[in-house]
Amino acid sequence: GAASKGEYRHFMLKEIYEQPQVIAATLEGRLGERSALIESFGNGAEQLLSKVKQVHIVACGTSYHAGLVARYWLEQYAGIPTQVEVASEFRYRRVVVPENTLFVTLSQSGETADTLAALRFARELGYLGSLAICNVPGSSLVRESDLTLMTQAGPEIGVASTKAFTTQLVALMLLTLGLGKVNDMDEARQAEIVTALRGLPTVMGRVLGLDGDIEALSMAFAEKHHALFLGRGAHFPIALEGALKLKEISYIHAEAYPAGELKHGPLALVDSEMPVISVAPNDALLDKLKSNLQEVRARGGELYVFADESVGLENAEGLHVLRLPYIDEALAPILYTLPLQLLSYHVAVLKGTDVDQPRNLAKSVTVE
Ligand code: G6P
Repeated sequence: GAASKGEYRHFMLKEIYEQPQVIAATLEGRLGERSALIESFGNGAEQLLSKVKQVHIVACGTSYHAGLVARYWLEQYAGIPTQVEVASEFRYRRVVVPENTLFVTLSQSGETADTLAALRFARELGYLGSLAICNVPGSSLVRESDLTLMTQAGPEIGVASTKAFTTQLVALMLLTLGLGKVNDMDEARQAEIVTALRGLPTVMGRVLGLDGDIEALSMAFAEKHHALFLGRGAHFPIALEGALKLKEISYIHAEAYPAGELKHGPLALVDSEMPVISVAPNDALLDKLKSNLQEVRARGGELYVFADESVGLENAEGLHVLRLPYIDEALAPILYTLPLQLLSYHVAVLKGTDVDQPRNLAKSVTVE
């Protein structure tokens, strides 16, 4: 059943491996031949989305990181100005809401106190309407929002969120395609992303097949006290999520930086005791990322790079490269989440922590 670990040692590992299926389930019925099916987002969705001129996203924790990825997507593909904020900040400040702004909450549980309070606060602020992207049907957030886009991750037991995050990203890409459709997004590009989404579960399965290689890499982290995650563009939030996973379950202090900020501070920390992890899909920012990587190597830092197979990076002294299969750059943030989840998982197992129930943390924070 859903609440049994089956053959897996931990719920977290089981949930990591479920991602191809739950992503396919989240896409089910929501894709047409060449574009997203906005009707499938619920009653009145098309009417509401066609009016949207801005998006404000509010969430906590891992869900907040999904929102940060969506900001890149909504601006790049749909041309919709987007802001993202943690709920505990949003709910306690004066917020200026431009006309025709859609308020979006992201939550696995639908019961996070700060996110729910933010939705209630937003209701007084003159938003165009509210959309909840959520994993629990009938949750408070779902009941109180105008529109809902359910993720189909199934029950998530591990406190460190994995499949809820990647299904949120898929739902957010569907939202991007929906808003793109009503905002003159290039039709050929819509069709390409639709095709890539259909193939995503298969490519994710291939990345899960690299688990043994990732487990081998994890040995280098178990004795470390700090780690630095770098990413650029939509992969900066993926770096943030990778650092959060490592902190949550292995208790290793981890930070994430946009790769271009390295020289403005964190480079001072880099030495052989501080592993640096970077995601390098083959997108437009790759050349810039490569020069950041040089900066780390030049200071004796050990670099771990997850890179597209076409990227000209080879293993070398201080440089460990793990190649991932090709994916459309629009979906790379989803795919590159997987090796970071697996890395944290294996480091935590090596350290002997309580992987599914890390100290001091709760699955759902229903009080402030
Ligand atoms: C807690 C969990 C996190 C989660 C966050 C937001 O901190 O430990 O894994 O990301 O709450 O939860 P939500 O259910 O709103 O996504």
